[in-house]
Amino acid sequence: MWTALFTNIEVNRREVKMKDTKVMDMKNGIDLESIKVAGQWIYEGKTVAFPTETVYGLGANALDEEAIFGIYHAKGRPSDNPLIVHISREEMLHPLVKEIPEYVRLLMDAFWPGPMALIFNKSDQVPLVTTGGLETVAIRMPNHPIALALIESSGVPIAAPSANLSGKPSPTVGEYVIRDMMGRVDCIIDGGEVAVGLESTVLDVTGDVPMILRPGKITQEDIIEVVGACELDKALIKSDDTIVAKAPGMKYRHYAPEAKVSVYEGGTLEVLTRIESEAVELAKAKTHVAIMVFEEDEAFLRQLFKQRLTSEEMNYIHFLIQGSAKDLSVFARQLFRDLCVSDDLNCREVLVRGVSEHGLGRAIMNRLKKASEGRMFKI
Ligand code: TXA
Ligand code: MG
Repeated sequence: MWTALFTNIEVNRREVKMKDTKVMDMKNGIDLESIKVAGQWIYEGKTVAFPTETVYGLGANALDEEAIFGIYHAKGRPSDNPLIVHISREEMLHPLVKEIPEYVRLLMDAFWPGPMALIFNKSDQVPLVTTGGLETVAIRMPNHPIALALIESSGVPIAAPSANLSGKPSPTVGEYVIRDMMGRVDCIIDGGEVAVGLESTVLDVTGDVPMILRPGKITQEDIIEVVGACELDKALIKSDDTIVAKAPGMKYRHYAPEAKVSVYEGGTLEVLTRIESEAVELAKAKTHVAIMVFEEDEAFLRQLFKQRLTSEEMNYIHFLIQGSAKDLSVFARQLFRDLCVSDDLNCREVLVRGVSEHGLGRAIMNRLKKASEGRMFKI
């Protein structure tokens, strides 16, 4: 019988043997010769971190139990947390699953390759270590040339969680993969900044009606448009924390930078004046603080700070601007990176202007809820 190797982490991070990690720089374009080498390594059971359009993945042969242990070890991740299996062609799906419901074909046609992982009943080919002991398996065809070429050249489906240490923000640029994974994996492919910035929508398609277990760029509205119906896991709607999320990964501490994150929701004026007063207090106490707001908010806030802070105190305030409120895709792409940047800037606190939970806003708020460990204030 399958048993979790280490359920309640922390796996002692020093126990991981240091590896001689090869970094492949593909920021300026894909290098097919190097991809061949990395693909061969995956085939042989090694670990390779690579970019996808959502976030970087930490990949290994999904059908090789030993290789999968390599992922759990490198991440310091509990092995009851199932992995997403990445494929490059639809034919690769059939041997991995028991059945493909009719409506799922419509979803695959509409959204693959793309930021959507589908949960099927698994076939016997998929080892239980890959699925965290579950009889279901999450499968995704990523929309990134490096990811697709790597899968093709390895010739096997690639299991890959996000390439961060467990609990940390998912990496969206190569440098944060290198920071977290250097010496822990066999290879890191640096493909520059990703396009989406939040992990894929996880959709359970084992029932008659698809159910979103983790919100992402592909929204409930997008899915309804294609198949007519789509439910949300109750744990995503209710603020009641007694409801356990169906995606095992959703229950762990997540995305947390060293800094304390607080999120403020409400009318523009109320939210900005609250952020201002919190930030002023911190800056006066000589504590670095990051402020995540939209470009429309910056001039107003700077004006307020000018009235209350000296120019020396202003040095403790760091604006991390999330594009315009009219286009949340910038916020989505930058969120994880800027949580890491706030640590680089030595910020003790991050004050965030929340967004309404519609469309992409639902995924952004879902990640912020975890990053803030629930410090969400409605004002
Ligand atoms: O965008 C993404 O999905 C990225 C890139 C690398 O593809 N991957 C990623 O993997 O975010 P990971 O391991 O960080 O998150 C996978 C999520 C977890 O919340 C996990 O619990 C859920 O998917 N999941 C995977 N298999 C599942 C299954 N069989 N049943 C329910 N949830 C599952
Ligand atoms: Mg993750």
